[in-house]
Parts: sequence; structure tokens; C-alpha cells
Amino acid sequence: MIEQSLFLIKPNAVSSRHVGHIITMLEEHDFAIRQMKLFRFDQELARRFYQEHLEKEFYPRLESFMCSGNTVALLLEKEHAIHELRELMGEVEPEKRKPGTIRALYGNGVTDNGAHASDSAASAIREIGIIFPEEYSK
Ligand code: CDP
Ligand code: MG
Repeated sequence: MIEQSLFLIKPNAVSSRHVGHIITMLEEHDFAIRQMKLFRFDQELARRFYQEHLEKEFYPRLESFMCSGNTVALLLEKEHAIHELRELMGEVEPEKRKPGTIRALYGNGVTDNGAHASDSAASAIREIGIIFPEEYSK
């Protein structure tokens, strides 16, 4: 089944100029780009996007990082896109990242890990609605 997923290139990977290579990796893995934009998170958007983490001890760190510079968002489409994108992105903990994954290549610490990808069909719908609201008004 063709699925859509929301992918973010986070501020550390944008500022270190890895946008081009990450998009090349996505295209080489057959993801189709349906929408794409560059923007900067503010506190309100970060709180909506990361609603499930608001009460976590790491939330202030996450918010400050996400608001620290530009993010590139892509709406991607592929067969089994959600699972495949999580695989290509790699794990949140640096020591668990498989070589060759986006986070192994362009993540720094746990927080500034270079990338985000929706973790379920429900998350994808929610996140696409936040970042590309025009998708659901077509
Ligand atoms: O991004 P992913 O779904 O892999 O991980 P998450 O557990 O849903 O956490 C969301 C984001 O919060 C991560 O991508 C990190 O940027 C940040 N985080 C953090 O700063 N410290 C942690 N201990 C866990 C997550
Ligand atoms: Mg998550």
C-alpha cells in the first residue's frame, strides 16, 4: 500500500549543509517528494508538533533545539513509507544507529539527531496536518 509520511531535516543538518545529500538518499530509496518547504519552528509550533513529549524532562532541550534554526519538511510517498523511512533514518540513541542511516551520518547527539520521521499512520496524518495543512483542504 502506498503511504505518506512526514520527514523533517532538523536544524543541525540544515545548518551543516546536508540537505542535498539527505534528499538524494531519500530519492535513491525511491521516496517520491509530494511537498517540500523550509521554515523555522517557533515555540507554539514545537509544542503542537511534539505534544506527546511536552511533559518529558528533555522537552525544553528539544524545543530550544528545534527553534534554533531552519528545518526542511518533506511530504514523502512510497509503498510502506512509514516503516521504511524510520529504517533509513535510524535510531534516536547515538550508540544504536546503524551505519549508513541518516542519523548515523548526520546526527550529533540524542537531541540534535538530524532527522524526524512519522512513527505510525496516525502520527503521519497528524503531523502532515500540522506542517502541510493545505494537503487536507484539497
Ligand atoms: O524522533 P524519534 O521518534 O526517533 O524519537 P522520540 O523518542 O519520539 O523523541 C522525539 C525527539 O525528541 C527526538 O528525535 C530527539 O530530538 C528528542 N529527544 C531528546 O532530546 N532526548 C531524549 N532522551 C529523547 C528524545
Ligand atoms: Mg517519535
